Amino acid sequence: MMNAAHDDDETDIAPDFVLLHDAAHVWHPYTQHQIAPLPVHVTHADGAWLYRADGTPLLDAISSGWVTTHGHCRPEIVQAIAGQAARLDHMVFTGFTHEPATALAAELVSRLPRGLTRIFYSDNGSTAVEVAIKLSLQSFANRGTPRQLVAALEHAYHGDTFGAMAAGAHDVIAAAAKPLQFDIAKLPDPSEGDTVGALEALLAARGSELAAVIVEPLLVGAGGMRVWDERVLRAIRDRTRSAGVHLIADEVLTGFGRTGPMFACERAEVSPDLLCIAKGLTGGVLPLGATAATEDIFDAFRSGDQGKMFFHGQAFAANPIACAAALASLELFDEESEDNRIRIEVAHARHLEAFRGVRGVRSVRQLGTVAAIELHSPSGYAGDIGRDLAAFALANGVLLQPLGTVAYCLPPYCTTDDELASVYDVMRRFLDGERAPRPVFEV
Ligand SMILES: Cc1ncc(COP(=O)(O)O)c(C=O)c1O
Repeated sequence: MMNAAHDDDETDIAPDFVLLHDAAHVWHPYTQHQIAPLPVHVTHADGAWLYRADGTPLLDAISSGWVTTHGHCRPEIVQAIAGQAARLDHMVFTGFTHEPATALAAELVSRLPRGLTRIFYSDNGSTAVEVAIKLSLQSFANRGTPRQLVAALEHAYHGDTFGAMAAGAHDVIAAAAKPLQFDIAKLPDPSEGDTVGALEALLAARGSELAAVIVEPLLVGAGGMRVWDERVLRAIRDRTRSAGVHLIADEVLTGFGRTGPMFACERAEVSPDLLCIAKGLTGGVLPLGATAATEDIFDAFRSGDQGKMFFHGQAFAANPIACAAALASLELFDEESEDNRIRIEVAHARHLEAFRGVRGVRSVRQLGTVAAIELHSPSGYAGDIGRDLAAFALANGVLLQPLGTVAYCLPPYCTTDDELASVYDVMRRFLDGERAPRPVFEV
């Protein structure tokens, strides 16, 4: 049975082998294959645009999973990748080093919040978080003062590996994995609760066990693009510092300009002990993760004792091609990029203002280049409204993937004002009641 989710697929005469092979052999992330429409076959990309196999353009309003920073296929990054691939493609990073990794580490340290001086490479955001948690726990153990408790925020998302899942919101964790989660103390989501009060209570009750508090600074992302106050982040920093507890800032989403400055921590003038980056690190082109640590944490692992080394290493850690892409991407964070981010921030604010109080809108929120509109849905977060909006947007040439009832726009920085306006136009028409045509099924 062939399922043509989009009208234009019906007119294809030649069979689309990509879709056939996909249907036969591919398992997609976060997809219920029994009922999901056919995936959209994309062949190429440029700037803020993806192009479908039939040539239809699709405006990437979500930076392809929050990764694309400057735009797709930026020649500077493409050239850096090609040049590096021809020189040194990959090599083991235990006992060896190379210029892209060392130059990138130096460059990152110069841009990261003060005090973060050591870069540990991995290859994605979840792993950057695993590394941060493991570094914190082992640093206490190495110093002979073991602490094994980690605190995290309600509604948090830190990735899909076991440690990251444990720190994430339990309602999004697969039930099958739940019994295996380690002990995490939950603090209220700062966008709606008294996080600092709860942290103080936790410190009073279990302070000597607490190794680290992990937060998505100022923006709880996958939990619904919930924006929270810089003063709360500063207060969490103050309390953790005076209690000798590590603060882990998961900047996998917020890093690389999404909230305006390079890192969200900068907005609050906060320096964490550990900071996780991935997604936009390579401009969103290649997988690369990194965990930045203070010299104090690094020192906890320096010893004549082999048993105190950090027992962690991914085969693709510090891949030279990915590091070269990241270096090229960092160079593109120039004045023009900053102007673009400010322009997008101003345009978002203007558009969101027009959505306030509109029928069907519960609330609007924004942090830097990230804008969100929470929709009313009679059937709640798990209802169909987000999927309906995604289908309507797709039919109108815009890529949106709402988080339940939360529609958001998180564009690459090259997105023009007119392109941004077309994203809001699609949202407005959807709120006015327009819907995508129903999928067509053929036998
Ligand atoms: C805040 C945060 N941390 C970690 C991750 C996991 O990153 P990755 O998908 O690269 O494993 C994500 C992904 O969305 C994220 O938003």
